[in-house]
Amino acid sequence: MTTLSEPPSPGEARSPGISYQQLLDTDSRPENVPVVLRWQSYHFTDDTDIPVSRYTSREFHELEKDKVWNRAWQMACRSDDIAEVGDTLNYDICGQSILVVRVSESEIKAYFNACLHRGRQLREHDGNATELRCPFHGFCWNLNGSLKQVPCEWDFPHIDPDTWSLPELKVGTWGGFVFVNMDPNCESLEAFLGNLPSHFEKWPLENRYKSVHVARVFPANWKVVQEAFMEAFHVVATHPQLLAGIGDANSQYDFEGNFSRAITPNGTPSPHLSYTPSEQEMFDAVSDRRLDQPSFIVLTDGMTARSVTGNGGRINLRKTIGDEADKLSDAELSESIYYTLFPNFHPWGAYNRITYRFRPYGDNHEMSIMECMFLEPFDPSKPKPPSVPIHWLGPDDDWTEAPELGMLARVFNQDSFNLPRVQVGLRSMRKPGVTLANYQETKLRHFHNLLNEWIARP
Ligand code: FES
Ligand SMILES: [Fe+2]
Repeated sequence: MTTLSEPPSPGEARSPGISYQQLLDTDSRPENVPVVLRWQSYHFTDDTDIPVSRYTSREFHELEKDKVWNRAWQMACRSDDIAEVGDTLNYDICGQSILVVRVSESEIKAYFNACLHRGRQLREHDGNATELRCPFHGFCWNLNGSLKQVPCEWDFPHIDPDTWSLPELKVGTWGGFVFVNMDPNCESLEAFLGNLPSHFEKWPLENRYKSVHVARVFPANWKVVQEAFMEAFHVVATHPQLLAGIGDANSQYDFEGNFSRAITPNGTPSPHLSYTPSEQEMFDAVSDRRLDQPSFIVLTDGMTARSVTGNGGRINLRKTIGDEADKLSDAELSESIYYTLFPNFHPWGAYNRITYRFRPYGDNHEMSIMECMFLEPFDPSKPKPPSVPIHWLGPDDDWTEAPELGMLARVFNQDSFNLPRVQVGLRSMRKPGVTLANYQETKLRHFHNLLNEWIARP
């Protein structure tokens, strides 16, 4: 029989402070809190260490290439990145090049970006084309992949045009994103996504345009970087300036199928603080007020940081999503709701604009690319603004060189300071594994449990 004095079972312990579900009960529009924020799906799986070699060994990287990158659905681009017929985009993964092409208004195809003659990349830059012509000797394919022209055809009587179409990858779309899969026998994208699309029904990502896209190269394994954006546990040490207005340790973590989710509430105090901040102090923290600036809004009696954030968000969003803005709860306008779809795609929920993608840099297992995109709603009475191209930053660049990221640039700088040092530390470590928290590192555990399954596949 369980008594109150017994310690909780592994995974049952929770931080002091208000739980996320209790916080939802205080919403100024409780009837508008969507069911997906009431959804809870956590169970303890295990507390075994994650082998350090997953982050440092070439052999494991080769295994990942073979078992994951060559087989899993991965986000290649926004559909709007190739808006016009003939637009092409290169998606590079682990040294392999994929060519994504808009074939018609309604059809997108993806090809292995290699000429069938002697293998040159067909296109190395994004752009628009009426045909896919190899620059080396001039073999040419139509946008739909069928063979168009063989130079000196008399010299290639052994080529059967019917069997010389460009080999294709599987392509699927969801939320305005284009996904590709190199495995001809893969499950459908719909099956792979599972219930993830149902979480975004109230916040359709296909109705957004990409207003910001910044990519930065890091001298660290792609999972080291990705995992720094999958928990709020690091906030207390890495981003202490946020504590007055973030329920970091009161975040909720969930997982199901191939995706996981964290909800970190904002406009509520961190349980790490030894004092209770006022609603004004919480609002000042979430609104990124400098200490030498006056408050952006002075809160009077009865106003809370979350209700003021909610009202501001509704007023702002009414310009683009109209009356739908009035149906949003404070929660949807306040929280950080960050999903992860295996292996590397991180769309954020509600109207926080962020989407992340992480991947190896070229074929280097100790370098990676982190990308941050902003997906903005737009006024439907006006033409959809164009999707921006990638703004690249090098490993020594500062995120503030991408001012389009706003306050996030300074927060990312704090994260970035850790990451190369994690890689050096892991290389130096003699303990064979890294140790995860049972609850706050749920998303990492879920990712590695999925990775175990993918690696074990024949
Ligand atoms: S390699 Fe492409 S035409 Fe020769
Ligand atoms: Fe962070």
